[in-house]
Amino acid sequence: MDFQIERNDIANAGTVSSLTKRHLKKRGLSRSFVKRVTIGVYEAEINVVIHSYGGTANLNIENDYVEIEFKDVGPGIECISTAMQEGFSTASPYAIENGFGAGMGLPNIKSVSDEMYLDSSEDGTTLRIRFYIKDEDYENKPINK
Ligand SMILES: Nc1ncnc2c1ncn2[C@@H]1O[C@H](COP(=O)(O)OP(=O)(O)OP(=O)(O)O)[C@@H](O)[C@H]1O
Ligand SMILES: [Mg+2]
Repeated sequence: MDFQIERNDIANAGTVSSLTKRHLKKRGLSRSFVKRVTIGVYEAEINVVIHSYGGTANLNIENDYVEIEFKDVGPGIECISTAMQEGFSTASPYAIENGFGAGMGLPNIKSVSDEMYLDSSEDGTTLRIRFYIKDEDYENKPINK
């Protein structure tokens, strides 16, 4: 599943995470698993909206994991290890006015996900996060499982 994410479109930010949530629920995944994924996807989606020039998200739901890849167009992250620190933010006044910019998104994504790949250059940023599904993460087993 592919999604388009528009720059500065805060009104629609959250669409990717709510659609992801809906798909995961439909698969019979538990509330706690769905919540973990939704938090990670939401933070990643917001980052594309407020920090990039726009991008895409690709959602892939398998039986044993969920993976979401975000790709955006510039300006990129100058220093990834700095950006990963709690409290670091370059959020614009517009983003701050809308309640973002605590510098907690990337650290939260790292803590909720099982695997996180982040790569960035001045041409853009790629973020891939993966969540492994354990048997107990299925609340209601889907019919085909
Ligand atoms: N997709 C991106 N493109 C460019 N820069 C980014 C991107 N994602 C994150 N960054 C940079 O990394 C910093 C830290 O991101 P993080 O999500 O942790 O905090 P934030 O977005 O500033 O605030 P919060 O997520 O708490 O609202 C950002 O301020 C920005 O400088
Ligand atoms: Mg953020």
